[in-house]
Amino acid sequence: MGYRVAVVGATGAVGREMLKTLHERRFPVDEVAALASGRSAGQDVSFGDKAVLRVKNLETFDFAGWDIALFSPVAAVSAIHAPRAAGSGCLVIDNTSQFRMDPDVPLVVPEVNPQALGRIRRGIVANPNCSTIQMVVALKPLHDRFQVKRVVVATYQSVSGAGKEGMDELFIQSKGSFVGDAPKVEQFTKQIAFNVIPHIDRFLDDGSTKEEWKMVVETKKILDPDIAVIATCVRVPVFIGHAEALVVEFERPVTVAEARMALRAAPGVQVVDTHEDGGYVTPLDAQGEDATFVSRLRRDPTVANGLAFWCVSDNLRKGAALNAVQIAETLVAQGVLARRAA
Ligand SMILES: NC(=O)c1ccc[n+]([C@@H]2O[C@H](COP(=O)([O-])OP(=O)(O)OC[C@H]3O[C@@H](n4cnc5c(N)ncnc54)[C@H](OP(=O)(O)O)[C@@H]3O)[C@@H](O)[C@H]2O)c1
Repeated sequence: MGYRVAVVGATGAVGREMLKTLHERRFPVDEVAALASGRSAGQDVSFGDKAVLRVKNLETFDFAGWDIALFSPVAAVSAIHAPRAAGSGCLVIDNTSQFRMDPDVPLVVPEVNPQALGRIRRGIVANPNCSTIQMVVALKPLHDRFQVKRVVVATYQSVSGAGKEGMDELFIQSKGSFVGDAPKVEQFTKQIAFNVIPHIDRFLDDGSTKEEWKMVVETKKILDPDIAVIATCVRVPVFIGHAEALVVEFERPVTVAEARMALRAAPGVQVVDTHEDGGYVTPLDAQGEDATFVSRLRRDPTVANGLAFWCVSDNLRKGAALNAVQIAETLVAQGVLARRAA
């Protein structure tokens, strides 16, 4: 038996990756609906190598009889249509920031806290922010063994984190710079080509940004409320793949060898760390891959129990589409979706 799956935001960077991921992982589908705004209704999107789906307007779509909806529009659209879909009996997995901190909505990374799926009260499950997902996948095996106390993280986030228009802006600015075009700045706050911008999402009263705040509060909700996090989130001129430099302090003593062993055994983590030229993973290497990669693992000699490392993942896959599909797979394995579809 397969499921009827709706993909909301199907024309976007994440939505297209969702369709690709559902097909690649052979998620058991009977029917797939591609939904977006009225602007792109009637366009075609690919589902696998052969199938083409005609995009339908979310506004007028009836979710009755649909089992799962993978949402990745903007937060304000999820605010209206995710509860509408859930109200029709369709289980929603939402990629936007709209419901992440709602106490009645589980915020889930299947390798880290699948148990949170036991309490789906509003018919909605939230997918965390892309930079949080890869960080908690890497922290989880270390937290289980050595108990993470404090994390200092700096991110190097690709432009695809800002959607398809962010990718277009980097492309157009880069190309334009070779023919002397003045850079047009629309999606980012300064020119992104040949630059780095220490500002993602809006500023908060304390001088941090909302992207930084998300990493703090989402880590607490997913992994452990006692973990202290300070983040600096930076946009870099890379198309796909987020990198993070982490400095982590633990309650218990830890050696590099023990940490390496814990990371190697962890689901979703791949350690690539040889101390030679190129013996580490970059965003280009991680593009199209499912894993969260850990490199440059070393002791932090400035504290008693500390480590520093480099962490990279494809933000459109593990940071968004893959994580959402893995949540759906986990729900199927737990029997939650089977009961709903029966
Ligand atoms: N990119 C990432 O790495 C990442 C990671 C985690 C979470 N997210 C979140 O996922 C969401 C989508 O991100 P993205 O990168 O895919 O953005 P995107 O490339 O800009 O795509 C946005 C999608 O939302 C649709 N949409 C916009 N307004 C709509 C409306 N009124 N009704 C129905 N559909 C509407 C768009 O359809 P049209 O073509 O019709 O405009 C498009 O399909 C965002 O909330 C983002 O924060 C993104």
